[in-house]
Amino acid sequence: MAEEPRAHDPVDTFRQLILAKLKYAVGKDPGNAFGHDWFEAVALAARDHLVDHWEEASLQVERQEQKRVYYLSLEFLIGRLLVDSLSNLGLLDTAREALARLNVDFEQIRNLEPDAALGNGGLGRLAACFMESMATLNIAAHGYGIRYEHGLFRQVLVDGWQQEHTETWLDFGNPWEFERPEVSYSVGFGGSVVNITEPGEVPRHEWQPNEMVRSIAYDTPVVGWRHSSVNTLRLWRARAEEDLQLERFNAGDHFGAVVDVVKAESISRVLYPNDSTEAGLELRLRQEFFFVSASLQDLIKRHLDQHGDIHTLPERVAIQLNDTHPAIAVAELMRLLVDVHRLEWFEAWTLTVATLSYTNHTLLPEALESWPVSLMERLLPRHMQIIYLINAYHIDSLRAKDIHDFDLLRSVSLIEEEHGRRVRMGNLAFLGSHSINGVSALHTELMRKSVFSDFHRLYPQRINNKTNGVTLRRWLYQANPQLTELLVGAVGDELLDSPETVLRKLEPFAAKASFRKQFAAQRQHNKRALAALVQERMGISLDTQAIFDVQVKRIHEYKRQLLNLLHTVALYQAMRNDPTTDWAPRVKIFAGKAAASYHQAKLIIKLANDISRTINVDPTLRGLLKVVFIPNYNVSLAEVIIPAADLSEQISTAGLEASGTSNMKFALNGALTIGTLDGANVEMSEQIGREHMFIFGMTAQQVATRSRRDLGMAAEIAASERLAGAMEAIRSGIFSPDDPNRYAGLIDGLIAHDRFLVCADFQAYWDAQRQVDALWRTPDRWWHSAVLNTARTGWFSSDRTIREYASDIWKVPGIEK
Ligand code: G1P
Repeated sequence: MAEEPRAHDPVDTFRQLILAKLKYAVGKDPGNAFGHDWFEAVALAARDHLVDHWEEASLQVERQEQKRVYYLSLEFLIGRLLVDSLSNLGLLDTAREALARLNVDFEQIRNLEPDAALGNGGLGRLAACFMESMATLNIAAHGYGIRYEHGLFRQVLVDGWQQEHTETWLDFGNPWEFERPEVSYSVGFGGSVVNITEPGEVPRHEWQPNEMVRSIAYDTPVVGWRHSSVNTLRLWRARAEEDLQLERFNAGDHFGAVVDVVKAESISRVLYPNDSTEAGLELRLRQEFFFVSASLQDLIKRHLDQHGDIHTLPERVAIQLNDTHPAIAVAELMRLLVDVHRLEWFEAWTLTVATLSYTNHTLLPEALESWPVSLMERLLPRHMQIIYLINAYHIDSLRAKDIHDFDLLRSVSLIEEEHGRRVRMGNLAFLGSHSINGVSALHTELMRKSVFSDFHRLYPQRINNKTNGVTLRRWLYQANPQLTELLVGAVGDELLDSPETVLRKLEPFAAKASFRKQFAAQRQHNKRALAALVQERMGISLDTQAIFDVQVKRIHEYKRQLLNLLHTVALYQAMRNDPTTDWAPRVKIFAGKAAASYHQAKLIIKLANDISRTINVDPTLRGLLKVVFIPNYNVSLAEVIIPAADLSEQISTAGLEASGTSNMKFALNGALTIGTLDGANVEMSEQIGREHMFIFGMTAQQVATRSRRDLGMAAEIAASERLAGAMEAIRSGIFSPDDPNRYAGLIDGLIAHDRFLVCADFQAYWDAQRQVDALWRTPDRWWHSAVLNTARTGWFSSDRTIREYASDIWKVPGIEK
């Protein structure tokens, strides 16, 4: 029998809702419900609240005819949604209390939610932060991407080597999403282009693909802070046009009958299939085109349904391309406008450029996508024609302006002729967009000078900067409730609604000993939680009084985990050689995944583990130094690690990290940064004050100068005994007695050709680390700086970033910078 709800008791109302979900949606009663059943019931209860606000929000967008923003991204690194949603709905305490009344521990339930790992690193997490900020700022936005059945691989360490295992976030279903089978578009591949001439009509082209794949929409509501608005993340799943070829099946060909299904569904099967094979490469292009085509068809339909006129597209719609992955949108939008909606070419081009904008996230040449012309011709023949035509008109228009410089024309061409003919997606995105933005001031400046220097000369207005940001709701309030409570106690409740300005009010508290003590105490609490996790997962015990020195991010040579490891080994040797020195105790914490085919990065993971294995058991250190590599880094793990960090390692080769966003999350939580003047570290040092960070190493300019010389490092190594000693220890197999030669190639590579200037920055890094030790030994100064880091990081809120996009690029009315 249903219980009577207690009058006006929101906790009890929520408790009733949970029970109803458990019974009618999950099909269980409290007596036989498992933890996951409770998770699902609570998530569905929260979702009901989301849906109410979602409906209101979409009605309002319609009524007010708001301009819509579409964020196209191959990655959305969302992580868990339960606490995020409850917290933004203002229901976190209600849900906690409601569960407590049902004798269920909320903390246990929340950890049962799988991470939606539909992304790789900073780029994908940025997209997730942006979605939350857009909802918070009341911007009518859709995120568009792929609903990967398997997100980024699960990293398992076997004897210190990374192994990739399939990640299975959908095993128990996904309570947040709504399948929309009725929202489905056909996406073509292959085939040919025919010319159609009908009497009285302008001759036109029609693409006749020989393969069709169906896209099915799955919608997830994304709620803003205090449910200001609810937007939609629409992810596409690929299906075959027909689930089974019945004739073949009945003829006994049971596998052949589903071959098309397998081929079509592989498009949304996994994030970042290994593209070191030709089949993998093709699948990647199929993924990109698939989600771009479905999204453009969908948004044009919505536009026409609402406004009825394709010509007003740029007034009503802004499309942001997150990196080059969706760059094929330039050609697909042209095809839809010209071939399907019958616009004249130049009109279509004007609309395309006015609607699209593109964010660049890297200057590394190998990361700027390009596709073999032969592959494009086979898979997307009409798009290849369109790209040739865009290119031809572009080159013609330059010649008409009397620009004949061959090198310039070659560099801005959409086709690369040098290494086999390829389509340059960065150039395509640039040419087809009215705005091209970098993600930090330095990155944008370098973009103007390097990858897009020629384009910049031709279109000096297009490149602009939008320094990245992170959502404070997730990276402060949710990840670090202890610190949040302390801050609210100090500066008041308004912090929660206006952190960008109110955080600054914290500055005077840095001078108060009692506040510093509380600040340090919340860190201890978080460090104990991380230590418990490490103990439980890895069986390693950590000294929480030691400096927690953390580098967590994708493993990549330019991010220079190797520099950190060389420092670790040098420190180890120094501690052993000089046990009487008063060394500050350290815990070196690493986490991150290496791309499946990136052998060098995988070797670096193995090295970290080998070093850890040796150092952690060396009794001469008396526990002064520990090294841990925590497996399977993801958003949830970051939420535990970042609030527990004392020192944040942001040590990329200057000029190569576009921005970094974990640097902001660490500083926000009060960690001190040791870093190069790279990416957003530069702006962080301006906001926070260089004296409250440990900035070291070559500047981007010095890196450029040094890189023009031979990259052999004999001189640098000869000049530093410490560096030579650390390299020799690794090279000679001290950390790999089972295979003494394991790292010979790695070290010899550094000596002969150190592309990322690890050796060249080593001594400066070592010296900066000793300043870290010195500051740690004067806690008053350390915690003074720590408080100021938190106080001065409000500017790095993704709300600020999104306001800049909205006013400068998307021209969304009503949003002031
Ligand atoms: C990439 C860039 C990084 C930037 C991020 C978001 O992230 O390398 O500098 O902050 O995009 O713009 P990554 O995938 O390297 O983590």
